[in-house]
Amino acid sequence: MPSGLNMAAKIICVANMKGGVGKTTMSVALAQTLAGVGKRAKVLLIDLDAQANASFWLCGYANLTAAIDSGRTVDCFLEDAIVFGKEVNLKERVRPAKAMAEQLFVIPSSPNLRIVERELIVFLSRRHRNLLEVERVASDLLEQQLDTLRNDYDAIIFDTAPGISAMTEAALRLSNVLIVPTVPDYVSNLGLLAFCRSVSWSSNDRAATAKRLPWVAANKVKQTKHHQQMLRQMREAASGDGREFNMFRTEIPSSSRIDEIASDLDMDGELGFDAEGAAVFAELAREVGEIAERDAVSVAATA
Ligand SMILES: Nc1ncnc2c1ncn2[C@@H]1O[C@H](COP(=O)(O)OP(=O)(O)OP(=O)(O)O)[C@@H](O)[C@H]1O
Ligand SMILES: [Mg+2]
Repeated sequence: MPSGLNMAAKIICVANMKGGVGKTTMSVALAQTLAGVGKRAKVLLIDLDAQANASFWLCGYANLTAAIDSGRTVDCFLEDAIVFGKEVNLKERVRPAKAMAEQLFVIPSSPNLRIVERELIVFLSRRHRNLLEVERVASDLLEQQLDTLRNDYDAIIFDTAPGISAMTEAALRLSNVLIVPTVPDYVSNLGLLAFCRSVSWSSNDRAATAKRLPWVAANKVKQTKHHQQMLRQMREAASGDGREFNMFRTEIPSSSRIDEIASDLDMDGELGFDAEGAAVFAELAREVGEIAERDAVSVAATA
C-alpha cells in the first residue's frame, strides 16, 4: 500500500455544471501537487471530459494522439465494456504523465467520449434502462474497476465535463471528496446551490445514509468589491447546521501566471507555477488531504 499521503486511495471528483470555472486547472494542479509531496505519493487522474484538456496537459500532444489512435482512452474502455460486452481492464489504459512519471498517472479521454456517452444512452435505453440506470451502469462499472486500481494509488482524481453528463454523475457517486471550483461572481453562483443539492444524496456507497456536502473552492478570486462581497455570502452560506456545501479556507487568486500555465497544454516540466501559485495549491492540497483523512463525508447536522 503506498504511504505517501496516507490518503488510502481516496477518490476525488472535481465538478461543476458551470464551464470555465477552473475544474481542469484545479484537477491537474492538485494531481501534480499531491504527486509532488515528498515524491512518494502516487496519483491517478481520470479524464472524463471529451474536451480532453487534462489529458493534453498531462500527456502532451504526441502521447495523447498515440493513446487516441491505439484506442487506449476512457471512451474506448466504456464502449468495449458496455456496448460490446468485452472483458475490460481499466488498468490497461493507465499511462504515466509526461512529467513526474513515477508518481503521476493518467487515463486519458478523447473527443469521441461525447459520441460514446450518447451511444451508451441510446444502447441502454433500447434495453429499457432509464437515465438513472444508465448512470448506475456506468458508476458500477467504474466502481468495479476502481476496486483494483485504488490499491495502487494514494489519490484518484476525476476531472469532469461542464454540464451534467452521465459520466460526471457516475464519478460523483463514487467519490469521497467532491470539489466544486467556483468563481465568486453572480453568474457562477447562480447554479451553485442547485448543483450542490443535486449531488449531495447520490452515492454508490449503499451503507451511506448521510447527506454528503460538496466542498466549494473559490477560484479566480479578485480583490474587487463584487468578488469579495460574493465570497462573504458564500462563506456565510457554508457555515451553520443547515448548510448545503462546505468551503475550503484556501482561495485561488485570479493570476495571469496560472492562466498562462493552464493554457500551455503541451508543457514539459513539473508544476511551473510561480512560488505564490505553488504555495496556494499546496495549501489546497493539504486541506483536501485533511478532508480525505476524515473520510470526506461531512454530515449535515440536519441530515
Ligand atoms: N486561478 C486562475 N487565474 C487565472 N486564470 C485561470 C485560473 N484558473 C483557471 N484559469 C483559466 O480559466 C480558463 C478555464 O479554466 P479551466 O479550463 O481549468 O476551466 P474548466 O472548468 O475546466 O473549463 P471547462 O468547463 O471547459 O472544462 C483557462 O483559460 C484557465 O487558464
Ligand atoms: Mg475542464
